[in-house]
Amino acid sequence: MQITLNSPLDMHLHLRDKEMLKTVAPLSAHTFAAAIIMPNLVPPVTTLHEVLAYKKRILEAVGDEVFEPLMTLFFKDSYDYAFLEEAKPYISGIKLYPAGITTNSEGGVSAIESAALSMTLTAMSDLEIPLLIHGESDGFVMDREKEFIPVYEELARQFPNLKIIMEHITTKESVAALERHENLYATITLHHLLITLDEVAGGMLQPHLFCKPIAKRPEDREALLSVALSAHPKVMFGSDSAPHPQHAKESCGCAAGVFTAPVALPLLAQLFDAHGKLDNLQTFVSDNAQIIYGYTPPVKEVTLEKKPFTVPEKYGEVVPMYAGEEIKWSIRSVK
Ligand code: NCD
Ligand code: ZN
Repeated sequence: MQITLNSPLDMHLHLRDKEMLKTVAPLSAHTFAAAIIMPNLVPPVTTLHEVLAYKKRILEAVGDEVFEPLMTLFFKDSYDYAFLEEAKPYISGIKLYPAGITTNSEGGVSAIESAALSMTLTAMSDLEIPLLIHGESDGFVMDREKEFIPVYEELARQFPNLKIIMEHITTKESVAALERHENLYATITLHHLLITLDEVAGGMLQPHLFCKPIAKRPEDREALLSVALSAHPKVMFGSDSAPHPQHAKESCGCAAGVFTAPVALPLLAQLFDAHGKLDNLQTFVSDNAQIIYGYTPPVKEVTLEKKPFTVPEKYGEVVPMYAGEEIKWSIRSVK
């Protein structure tokens, strides 16, 4: 059995910088036609100069692969209309992190409801620049996403023309919120479709499955599966592939992030096939994102086949999801 995907897109990706960038960028670029690149470098990407310089470093790391990095800025409430108008041709969105909520988000926003954000959000709305949000409160870890939903809803009401992407949703409450507001959309990761908190911490602790937001309950995973497998028009694939070196994961104080980029498409094919929904994979992994972002990707044809593949133990310094395990699908060719 085979499936050919046209221009798969990863709408939430961490490529990092320096040696790590050189390791991971070619892996995404091999099978994806484009990806939304997260700006949470140290320091974060906040100027046009940094956007362009980072894009250049990514393209250098990618080499000959056909791959378009879709750049983002790290949200600051000091961005005004003039700056955003100048930046618009070079960015696909702006990523907002609550301060300190995840890896390298210390310079994020401390009160999202605050009127201080309205200048930037109004300009983004007028210029039609999507707002990408890591939606978690600072509450109890299992409730953080649920507690953030009123913030999403208030923003959606206040800025009806602003496209708001709820990044890496993990709960049934987020799935329900998508239905209530025309301008709310969401990315869903591979790992949140595959695992619950049980796989992370139910047995021996699995640091390579630890991420933000933490994987939730079985009913949450079911809700995510229902919209992903049916390729609901408001959801799109965003891996949130977030590489950390092995020593930072297998340590006291494990860094958050699951590295899935090199296995994302075979595992998505395996998952959609297992549910008899392979026909919807193209829509989930590319078409919906093209419509939501109004984006036409470069041409790339990725053929996957149902043939076992053993996931490598490591890519450079990084341990991928399901390292050393056999998965049922593999990449046959890329054109
Ligand atoms: C991401 C990272 O490592 O940059 N980590 C994660 O657990 N997902 C940041 C993020 O997207 O929250
Ligand atoms: Zn992320």
